[in-house]
Amino acid sequence: MVVSVYGVFTPGDYPCSDRITFEDIESLALWTRGHLNLIQDVLRLIDLSHIYFAGEDPPEDLRLGCRSETTQEFRGRRKHSAQGPQKRGSLRAESTTLLSPLVRFILRQSGLDSGAYQPKALNRRLGACLRVLRTASEEAALKALRQNPALLEACLGSLLIGVSDFFRDAAVFDQIKRVVLPQMLQNDRTVRVYSAGCSAGHELYSVAMILDELGGLEASQLLGLDCRPDAIEQARSGGFSVSDLKGIGEHRQQRYFRVEGRCAVILPRLRRNATWHVGDFGVFLDPKPWDLILFRNVAIYLQAEYANRIWHRLDQQLKPGGMVIAGSADRPPEDLRWKRESSCIYRKPLTVAE
Ligand SMILES: C[S@@+](CC[C@H](N)C(=O)[O-])C[C@H]1O[C@@H](n2cnc3c(N)ncnc32)[C@H](O)[C@@H]1O
Repeated sequence: MVVSVYGVFTPGDYPCSDRITFEDIESLALWTRGHLNLIQDVLRLIDLSHIYFAGEDPPEDLRLGCRSETTQEFRGRRKHSAQGPQKRGSLRAESTTLLSPLVRFILRQSGLDSGAYQPKALNRRLGACLRVLRTASEEAALKALRQNPALLEACLGSLLIGVSDFFRDAAVFDQIKRVVLPQMLQNDRTVRVYSAGCSAGHELYSVAMILDELGGLEASQLLGLDCRPDAIEQARSGGFSVSDLKGIGEHRQQRYFRVEGRCAVILPRLRRNATWHVGDFGVFLDPKPWDLILFRNVAIYLQAEYANRIWHRLDQQLKPGGMVIAGSADRPPEDLRWKRESSCIYRKPLTVAE
């Protein structure tokens, strides 16, 4: 996602905030601080490093987190991205830059492949990373990290975007409930589900709730994997903020969460069959195949070739006839011959000949 802040509009010209979504937004036309706060709220951006200032220098105190470009650069980039094969919201056209030394260091020290990610997607998080370390330059940040490796985890968290939600993309979860899981439960009582890049577990817990509603949770096995230890720790604890429950509906909220003040904790019954693992989906391998794999909103941050490798790796771990749930901007490679069942839902052929 790239948010371009361009030109000066009056507040009345601002597009209605409730129509702005993560995937769709590419250009926002405002630059004043008040509106920046609004953009930040609406998009729930933790930092402002996604925001480009076009033709204006950002105010001094915001400069660290923002990128700026001239009006001409901005128009050139818009034109370029509109002509490219990947358009809206895609970061793929931007992969020619090199990874910053600090970002490369953080990835490598965290055991991740530094060639996996799109440099621009991560470089633009540098401001956030410097703020975590309370340093003003990359050199100072590298020094601080070498002196205190315990800071690594928080730095990785500032680089990799972990935004997630329960039942994110309601239509897809509706299809999972009406078609995908009932079919699987008909064939086999034990459904094995893997969420690769699960963040704090929202999507895997969403599947767990559906399985419970279909009477299939008890026998199922769920695994969430993420490379950020703090995200996995949260997933394992099942502790969320009440504000995370907004898309979940009153019924599920009461059935699956214990709410105390501003905290909402998933009930143990839903956590029992879920296991959580800190790891790299480029390395992780479970010996048993999966019925359902969720790999959503992660590939868009990866280099095309690396993403291709991961899709193939997931295919190897998927049962024949198994299903994959992708994000709305994700495009699994065609040579896998997965059948697109509906938007974001793919099925691996049962046989080579199918
Ligand atoms: C934007 S979140 C997507 C969360 C969830 N799949 C969803 O769609 O709501 C991407 C997640 O992928 C994780 N991630 C990135 N690279 C990874 C890797 N190599 N191995 C495991 N997890 C990774 C990040 O830490 C982050 O939590």
